Amino acid sequence: MDDLEKLNELTEGRPELARLVQESLEEIGACRDGEDLEHARIRLLGKKGTVTGLFKGLAGLTTGDKKVLGQTGNLLRKLIEERLDEKGRELAGAARSQAGRALDVTLPGRRPRIGHKHLLTQVTEEITSIFVSLGYQVVVGPEVELDYYNFEALNQPPYHPARSLHDTLYVSRKDPHRESPDDVLLRTHTSPVQVRVMESRRPPLYVISPGKAYRKDEIDATHSAMFHQVEGFAVGTDITMGHLKGTLEVFARKLFGEERDVRFRPHFFPFTEPSAEVDVSCHGCGGSGCAICKRSGWLEILGSGMIDPRVFEYVGYDPEEYTGFAFGVGVERVAMLKYAIDDMRVFFENDARFLRQY
Ligand code: PHE
Repeated sequence: MDDLEKLNELTEGRPELARLVQESLEEIGACRDGEDLEHARIRLLGKKGTVTGLFKGLAGLTTGDKKVLGQTGNLLRKLIEERLDEKGRELAGAARSQAGRALDVTLPGRRPRIGHKHLLTQVTEEITSIFVSLGYQVVVGPEVELDYYNFEALNQPPYHPARSLHDTLYVSRKDPHRESPDDVLLRTHTSPVQVRVMESRRPPLYVISPGKAYRKDEIDATHSAMFHQVEGFAVGTDITMGHLKGTLEVFARKLFGEERDVRFRPHFFPFTEPSAEVDVSCHGCGGSGCAICKRSGWLEILGSGMIDPRVFEYVGYDPEEYTGFAFGVGVERVAMLKYAIDDMRVFFENDARFLRQY
């Protein structure tokens, strides 16, 4: 006979005692955590608790009743202690398996997401490193620039018509009604680095200069008020357009694949003469026409030309002694062509789902 059966026997015919036993065990059964259990322990076994109350009632009783009540009290205390321990173990076990579910040490770890270079940074570095491998030196110029370097010394004195092609963002102007070489602006291209380098060094020069440029453009699929260029130029005693073409051919093949061809289309820039826009045969179709090249077979990737003798005069080089070529690559354009991206805005919206792909 176990303790509960003995208790049932003892309390037979004594409904208040039977209820006391019943309620005590139910209280323990209803406990949900350690705190509940501690409260139950105090209520049942504490100084003012149920069991103590039972013993206190013994005083004025007959010997027979005393015996029954005493045995009931002792048994009940023992049973309550056992049930409290049992319940405690049960609750601890449940808590353990709960925690076990949250922390399954057999699961493979979650790899922390590590950031990476933005696609435009990757393309900029790729372009730059091709020229570094050809012996070019990297020079970086300021984004906040003087009109003198951005325009004037690049053969665009105030009111030169080509200035209007560059919707310029000004930082401060000498006179808001007149253009001046002292005006401070956000450079509209990376070409002012040509002037800064030539001004402070002597040829031979082989320089590559990546960086940001700014124009007051409406933002759309192919325009951004801030964009990236890589400027390159070479100055020496007998540099020819043949060198420019050969250099750009090597560049185009390293960037877009060995099979690529380049072609020059006549163009105009105030600081080069002659000037050319350079196309690369399309890497998507090999030149037969596809969506990337808009069926033309060619991709326009940069502007270039032979440095205008007027620019050499501004920096104090003798145009009879020196010749040179220069080119400017649009980084967004190259990235869009290389990765078949049709909207420039994705570079700057910083949607991680887009950026993570590259
Ligand atoms: N700076 C010109 C532009 O932004 C590109 C260019 C650079 C053209 C060097 C010729 C030589 O359009």
